[in-house]
Amino acid sequence: MSIDPAINHRPSPALGLKIPRHIGVIMDGNGRWAKARGKARTEGHMEGVKALRRLVELCISHEVPNLTVFSFSSENWSRPKDEINFIFGLLHRFVASDLATLMANNVRIRIIGSRDGLESSLVRLIDDVEAKTRDNTGLNLMVAFNYGGKAEIVVATRHIANEVAAGRLRPEDITEATVAAALYTSGLPDPDLILRTSGEQRVSNFLLWQGAYAELVFVEENWPDFSEATFLAVLEEYTARERRFGGIEAKPR
Ligand code: IPE
Ligand code: IPE
Ligand code: MG
Repeated sequence: MSIDPAINHRPSPALGLKIPRHIGVIMDGNGRWAKARGKARTEGHMEGVKALRRLVELCISHEVPNLTVFSFSSENWSRPKDEINFIFGLLHRFVASDLATLMANNVRIRIIGSRDGLESSLVRLIDDVEAKTRDNTGLNLMVAFNYGGKAEIVVATRHIANEVAAGRLRPEDITEATVAAALYTSGLPDPDLILRTSGEQRVSNFLLWQGAYAELVFVEENWPDFSEATFLAVLEEYTARERRFGGIEAKPR
């Protein structure tokens, strides 16, 4: 597909945009953004945080109820130690510095993924912001950090196996709902739309179970360049998609 972010899209109900109940975003291309400007990769990650703030504001103003962003994958441990430390520091700073704004905007934030390998100070900070924003009723913001879709399914499987071993669950009673409830995203609707920036067209282990019927949209621009025009172009693309869910007629979402 081709999206032209240069078109002057305006946020207007007259556009008749469908608003997804849940958007997943693979924020990719920070390194290439920096490289193209002769900067260090870390500068790309810093600009990426600014793009994330823009995305959160857009989701609030367009009343997207749920947003999950991919910010560090379980496979990203294979990067140089310095880059990993920098990304961990960025999460720390984002969570600490943006807490007041998130509270003011009624955002509930959750960090999903494994806590293994995270420093205890970071884990404490995460627990603290999750607790402080727990009762907020606006945008649900999930930050997938140290997250991998396969690892998530393994954790869920272990939990279910323990329930069976303890005699609280019979194998024949395991349903899709049982699995969904054991995932980090328990209680959230599946993503209707998964967006990936930077031109890469793959899922890279993001929301494997939940994304079974997501509409996938890929845009060429790198994550730090993400703008309102792109956001609206992506929503237009989503609105134009015919979602059949295995049937023969389009379903409303
Ligand atoms: C996405 O940008 C951020 C993370 C994966 C942490 P990249 O760092 O992957 O940037 P590219 O893909 O190398 O350009
Ligand atoms: C996916 O991007 C993970 C995040 C955006 C956090 P990667 O840059 O790690 O993905 P691959 O390695 O190109 O598939
Ligand atoms: Mg990448």
